Amino acid sequence: MTVRSIASAPLRNTFGVDARAGRLIETDDANDLPALFAGELAGASPLVVGGGSNLLIVENPALALALTASTIRVVAEHDDHAIVRADAGTEWHAFVLWTLEHGFAGLENLSLIPGTVGAAPIQNIGAYGVEVGERIHAVEVFERATGTFHRFDAAACAFAYRDSVFKHDLDRYLITAVEFALPHAASLAPSALKLDYAGIRDELAAMGVDAPDPRTVAEAVIGLRRRKLPDPAVVGNAGSFFKNPIVPLAQAEALLAEHPQLPVFRGAGDDSRKLSAAWLIDACGWKGRRSDTGSGDAGVSEQHALVLVNHGRASGAELLDLARRIADDVQSRFGVAIEPEPRLIGAHW
Ligand code: EPU
Repeated sequence: MTVRSIASAPLRNTFGVDARAGRLIETDDANDLPALFAGELAGASPLVVGGGSNLLIVENPALALALTASTIRVVAEHDDHAIVRADAGTEWHAFVLWTLEHGFAGLENLSLIPGTVGAAPIQNIGAYGVEVGERIHAVEVFERATGTFHRFDAAACAFAYRDSVFKHDLDRYLITAVEFALPHAASLAPSALKLDYAGIRDELAAMGVDAPDPRTVAEAVIGLRRRKLPDPAVVGNAGSFFKNPIVPLAQAEALLAEHPQLPVFRGAGDDSRKLSAAWLIDACGWKGRRSDTGSGDAGVSEQHALVLVNHGRASGAELLDLARRIADDVQSRFGVAIEPEPRLIGAHW
């Protein structure tokens, strides 16, 4: 076990906001947690940080905790699938590549999402027609107040669109590892691949692939994401800043009658529909715009209207202010409330 305690530690965040934790505790062994929460962290609510890809830090936290263990192993083999376990600190995309290299399928559509395995269940990361909750077998957690470990099966995680039981109890549970149920690629029926999300089939065709497999689907998703979304290594961002809003069916129909181009998605139950937040923001003229207040470095990506970007020196507060102005515009123009997807630190929406 190795525990490190670092005063005034820079906090990694893909928005590239200048942020620090008063103290950062790092451990590479989840078994250290009971002693830490009985000692140095007793009664504290440290911010648990993973890859920092889903955070907007508006105010510096006093205390942060990072779990850095990153072991991946197969814990059970079955005829057509295996249970693969990864520690919370494993980089998400490195994990997806590991599963593909070891002959597993199921995570290919979730390629290239920034962040860690431990963060993935919290907001039930999703892309290109797949949500991670569909592939999760169990989530291992540490309960801070009682100092005990628990295991949630997939049903107990209550996964929904960008939501889970963990998101509502961020201070209660700390995710230490995740188990995935993944089919063997070799025995996968071609119809099990998810290719229907806009763009995947075209991308595969452009790659010259006519018999797709999990690896080529991953390549297609990587190609699409590289083109459509700004790279956080080049310009700070946290992916989609807003969730796609879910509205009553009647409201979706009324909006569609007035705006026939508005993308409206099913999958939110019979009586409601999910709307494209990107389209609503784009229609309000925000795509590619930069804030004219503060450093002037907070903006909306030119590539995708749903992505807020930090062109350099934007603070968390400037990005939040821009987000509020965008949401106000969407509300007054379309009567639809949009909400942030990333977690706000030191501020409420
Ligand atoms: N659109 C615009 N303007 C834009 C971009 C998109 O009008 O600038 C419209 C287009 O009509 C497009 C539609 O919005 O067809 C949907 O766009 P896209 O396919 O990019 O999907 P999204 O709903 O905007 C969601 C996820 C993404 C995920 C993609 C692909 C959310 C909040 N976002 O975006 O997830 O990669 O689908 O599956 O659900 C993330 O969560 O950080 C993220 C990037």
